[in-house]
Amino acid sequence: HSVPRHHKVDIASRTPPYHKLVTKLQEVRRVLGDSRQLTLAEKILYSHLQNPEESLLSNTNNGKDIRGKANLKLKPDRVAMQDASAQMALLQFMSCGLPSTAVPASIHCDHMIVGEKGADTDLPNSIAGNKEVFDFLESAAKKYGIEFWPPGAGIIHQSVLENYSAPGLMMLGTDSHTPNAGGLGAIAIGVGGADAVDALVDAPWELKAPKILGVKLEGELSGWASPKDVILSLAGQLTVRGGTGFIIEYFGPGVKSLSCTGMATICNMGAEVGATTSLFPFSPAHVPYLEATHRGPIAQAAQDVAALPMSQNLLRADPEAVYDQVITINLSSLEPHINGPFTPDLSTPLSKFKSVVEEKGWPTTFGAGLIGSCTNSSYEDMTRSEDVVKQASAAGLKPKADFIITPGSEQIRATLDRDHTLDTFSSAGGTVLANACGPCIGQWNRTDGPPKGESNAIFTSYNRNFPGRNDGNRSTMNFLASPELITAMAYSGYTTFNPMTDSIPTPSGKPFKFSPPRGSDLPSAGFAEGNPEFLPTPGVPDPSVEVKIDPKSTRLAKLDPFPPFPNSELNGLRVLYKVKGQCTTDTISAAGPWLKYKGHLPNISENTLIGAVNAATDEVNVAYDVDGSKTTIPDLAKRWRDEGHEWLVVAEHNYGEGSAREHAALQPRYLGGRIILAKSFARIHETNLKKQGIVPLTFVNESDYDLINACDEVSTKGLLDTLRSGGKGEVELVVKGKDGREHTVKTKHTLSEDQCGFVLAGSALNLLARAGREMQEE
Ligand code: F3S
Repeated sequence: HSVPRHHKVDIASRTPPYHKLVTKLQEVRRVLGDSRQLTLAEKILYSHLQNPEESLLSNTNNGKDIRGKANLKLKPDRVAMQDASAQMALLQFMSCGLPSTAVPASIHCDHMIVGEKGADTDLPNSIAGNKEVFDFLESAAKKYGIEFWPPGAGIIHQSVLENYSAPGLMMLGTDSHTPNAGGLGAIAIGVGGADAVDALVDAPWELKAPKILGVKLEGELSGWASPKDVILSLAGQLTVRGGTGFIIEYFGPGVKSLSCTGMATICNMGAEVGATTSLFPFSPAHVPYLEATHRGPIAQAAQDVAALPMSQNLLRADPEAVYDQVITINLSSLEPHINGPFTPDLSTPLSKFKSVVEEKGWPTTFGAGLIGSCTNSSYEDMTRSEDVVKQASAAGLKPKADFIITPGSEQIRATLDRDHTLDTFSSAGGTVLANACGPCIGQWNRTDGPPKGESNAIFTSYNRNFPGRNDGNRSTMNFLASPELITAMAYSGYTTFNPMTDSIPTPSGKPFKFSPPRGSDLPSAGFAEGNPEFLPTPGVPDPSVEVKIDPKSTRLAKLDPFPPFPNSELNGLRVLYKVKGQCTTDTISAAGPWLKYKGHLPNISENTLIGAVNAATDEVNVAYDVDGSKTTIPDLAKRWRDEGHEWLVVAEHNYGEGSAREHAALQPRYLGGRIILAKSFARIHETNLKKQGIVPLTFVNESDYDLINACDEVSTKGLLDTLRSGGKGEVELVVKGKDGREHTVKTKHTLSEDQCGFVLAGSALNLLARAGREMQEE
């Protein structure tokens, strides 16, 4: 890399604006009344409101029932992006025409690196294969003053914990495991690229005020139980939907026994229960961690804030704060857990695992144990695993399963290297992969794995275990557990092995039994610097840099602004497709092989709705033109767009569920979509549609779904007035069927005043760009 890397930590840009936040907190208290008790999550979140009075009194009974009701307009302190999602975020940011980002931001190249033979060969291969994308990200980062962490520097959440997270901070990240930073007391929320752009251009970011789930920790972890087991067991209790709409706030006497990185593991996997985010209070373990990661002044500043009287105390929950729900976990009696296969909430205590394996007929052996990733590659995790390896090596044992280690960052890798932990792993036969996502995101060339379709098992210390996620084989059962437990089990090779009770025969014939693992939270000699090539570029904008996009590229394309709403109703729209049943963001914009086109809207649009079932014929991705000719959905959409016919889609319930993927809204808009008419919408996708200038409408009478068909002609009535009046008004659709007969469909909408502005301007981005231009002219 030609760009100079900087060693010096920019403390100023990394310290949360405590003074401003404490002042805002007092404003929040004024709005809500001094007697109102707040949880920690509420304090941090509400202190980041643009205008506390406007947000906290909106939609609420004079501020009494904020949670679940109020529309919070927030001003986050920072943004982090990973390489896959950063592409569209940056392309959108660029079209606003601003010279630099409004808040500090960072880009982390981690998702596009394949794990196969080990870091030394994998990294150069992946860099070569993705060069144009990395060059684009790096040049844009330099131009706009974003810190750029090159491929090999580490996984976004580990790098964020080591460098950016801090008690009381609020940040957005374009990745679902962004809440990892909550381990260091930050409110960190995973979002789509368009949301990140809000923060990057200084527009308020909107969030429905979450409810607060309190998790009270009692006792102390010991033996084989680890922080991972806290969240594995909680996931079993809550299920994958149980945290939806909640922030999980940990509290209680057990907190002080946890390491900072252990708390991060717990927050990381809050994503698996659907929580908006998770966080821990400022804790004694945060101070040495901040100091060890070169942020002593931040530790001091946080301690000062935590010592303020309660009325101004941003970093502690009020003593009488009320949670919407409380779950208590006793760490002293917590058992190690194993979750899976195929879903992170299928939770089994270790002592019962053998009988469950036998009862369910799951494989009794397993092929690979993979440890590390953004979830579990701390010094504590790795030294506890090292202890397990050392015990086994001393007994003359070798792992029976493949043993694969993914360090979360260059800092942790270099430290483990210096302290000979990696040597211990390698001499035992372990493979150390690059500091990147690798097998966790399916970037795993599993050359010696079983044939596709053959049922088999692996164990990982990662966070997700959906079918096909790791090795692309949907028959691979992925079980989640702590790294130390996986390491021990790798020596047995049996899924039924319990290292707490069972022994393994050694070459000498003597049975060997593990002792509970021991490790250290932090390296006694401090963290090693690592390879300076992996340090980030400085976060200082350089307007002379040209952003690198090859006009012939198939993977990157600049965005052209969408045209504004016409000065009339929408007339002559056609129904492109009537979807039957479930329609997730995966149905609308598939992942897998399409991921490489995330930065190229025309190319990725070729996958639009290809998973959707045709309500008339039950065919998937088969659409019919007006003359009856048969084609695919993306082809018909393009044909109509090019002929000047804009279109709408008709669908059933919960349209756009599954993720915040903005491509699912961008693509239909790019192909000429104007309206989605559904029985109901997933909330985030509904917002995303409005941001891209598509109008989401729902039926007043659901049965009208049956009266509207593909190729019908549709005109709006009342839409223009509704948009111009900031959302007041009703919209009807006049539908003309094939037989020429007309009928009217009554609809509902949830357009706010701001959102009407998005649609009129053509997209939220158009509006932001206009504001940006005005700002620069001033
Ligand atoms: Fe990467 Fe897996 Fe974490 S994809 S960010 S290591 S969840």
